[in-house]
Amino acid sequence: MAAAATTLRLLKPLSSAAASLLVPLNNPATNRSVAPLLLFSSSAVSRHHRRFCNVVSASVSSGEATKAEPIELEKGAKIREFRRKLKIVDIKGGVDEGLDRLGETLVVRGWVRTLRAQSSVTFIEVNDGSCLSNMQCVMSSDADGYDQVESGVISTGASVWIQGTVVASQGSKQKVELKVDKLVTVGVSDPSFPIQKKRVSREFLRTKAHLRPRTNTFGAVARVRNALAYATHKFFKENGFLWLSSPIITASDCEGAGEQFCVTTLFSNPSEAVHSPVNAIPTTQDGSIDWSKDFFGKPAFLTVSGQLNAEIYATALTDVYTFGPTFRAENSNTSRHLAEFWMIEPELAFADLEDDMACATAYLQYVVKYILENCKEDMDFFNTWIEKGIIDRLSDVVEKKVVQLTYTDAVELLLKAKKKFEFPVTWGCDLQSEHERYITEQVFGGCPVIVRDYPKDIKAFYMRQNDDGRTVAAMDMLVPRIGELIGGSQREERLAYLEQRLDDLKLNKESYWWYLDLRRYGSVPHAGFGLGFERLVQFATGVDNIRDAIPFPRAPGSADF
Ligand code: 4AD
Ligand code: MG
Repeated sequence: MAAAATTLRLLKPLSSAAASLLVPLNNPATNRSVAPLLLFSSSAVSRHHRRFCNVVSASVSSGEATKAEPIELEKGAKIREFRRKLKIVDIKGGVDEGLDRLGETLVVRGWVRTLRAQSSVTFIEVNDGSCLSNMQCVMSSDADGYDQVESGVISTGASVWIQGTVVASQGSKQKVELKVDKLVTVGVSDPSFPIQKKRVSREFLRTKAHLRPRTNTFGAVARVRNALAYATHKFFKENGFLWLSSPIITASDCEGAGEQFCVTTLFSNPSEAVHSPVNAIPTTQDGSIDWSKDFFGKPAFLTVSGQLNAEIYATALTDVYTFGPTFRAENSNTSRHLAEFWMIEPELAFADLEDDMACATAYLQYVVKYILENCKEDMDFFNTWIEKGIIDRLSDVVEKKVVQLTYTDAVELLLKAKKKFEFPVTWGCDLQSEHERYITEQVFGGCPVIVRDYPKDIKAFYMRQNDDGRTVAAMDMLVPRIGELIGGSQREERLAYLEQRLDDLKLNKESYWWYLDLRRYGSVPHAGFGLGFERLVQFATGVDNIRDAIPFPRAPGSADF
């Protein structure tokens, strides 16, 4: 055996049983052994795991193990240095599902989903997150690294580097598989790995948010979420909108609903904040908090919406949109509310409510069509496992017209309904989720519906008053199972009306001086809407809880990870 390039230094002398678990590992590039490896006994693994990984990853990341010519993705298109890593989607994602690569020698890197040992061969399912499909790696006992399979190093959750030849698969689940030439363990997985083969609930996985992206469901949700974000930027780019970064810290409350998180340095560091006495907070003579001593010299908050800032840019650059995180301290422990969520807010100048509704409809149809065309494998998965019929439901969204009706008509439908609602309906009431769902699910058979012209008293101050004096040019798009997906309006562009509205609502006009200025200098009719991105992800994947539509959900009493 050649001298080890890196020696594994053990913290304590090994027991003879543990020592017998030391095996040489071949460097697949040079075929020389690089270091003795410690195979687990579970207690030894946790103690020596880090060093173990270092040894193996050093050989992999140094490139020794993976030195190869740039890989040809398609004929003639060499992939660049940083893309030397071939992904499973590159192999199996094409129309031929990998058959075009028969006979090629390739490397896959990923995490072991399952391992099945049969008498003559072992099947190792490897996933790298690039697609739902695993690469089935078939390993016979004469392949390099088979000792790691035999001794139990390779288990669910372990990360591996596998080189092999693409061959036609005997199984019916995939067209091709990889006949393993060499296997390298990059990182072992402790037997306590919590996501074993049996199906686990999404509730359980919420407590394992650091590992749940390694499941089929959360991998697929992450990919579709990514595709929706990409399609969002693509839609607005193709339609001449400019992406605007709206601020996260703000001193105004866009929705006027007072559901904001305060941003302060009055407790200057976290440990002080936890232990500091209440009387350490600076106060004025009358005993209230002295905000002049705070970082911004006045109270500041996390934004609930980028709309007011988008209006500023729309009244200069015409069509803009924001796409960023927003925060609401509403104590709503529901399957549709988060304390931190992403919002997409287009704002269109020289536009009215009709344009706004047309934009919302075109946007929704565009992004839904995009994922149906580009995320086929994941959408089939949702159709089978998460919401049966979701593909038909979404295809209808793309093809059918979105129904529009006024709030007054919607109330009439609800009053006529045979269903008993928890919240009684009268003209002027805010529509509750049960009402919204009844309208889209029962009355309109699961199609998205736009309700417009709401009573002004239940809507925000900035919405444009209709000529009837009691409604505003607002619109909400409602969808089945979720209720409100989009909320928007034509904005009040008339200075006198807006000032009157601020007075009526006893809002402080001075703090809106710049917003009023937009009506003073070249005001134009304009309109926009906000779409909750996680609700869109729910709508597009069928996951019923919004906490599963964002990587790390924040909700009342919960901000882990
Ligand atoms: O209806 P909202 O409150 O409208 C606004 O914020 C406007 N400023 C938008 C605009 O006109 N530019 O919120 C818009 C959307 C809702 O329809 C909903 O989809 C989502 O944001 N939303 C939430 N999503 C998750 N969790 C919450 N707590 C949400 N609150 C609103
Ligand atoms: Mg709303």
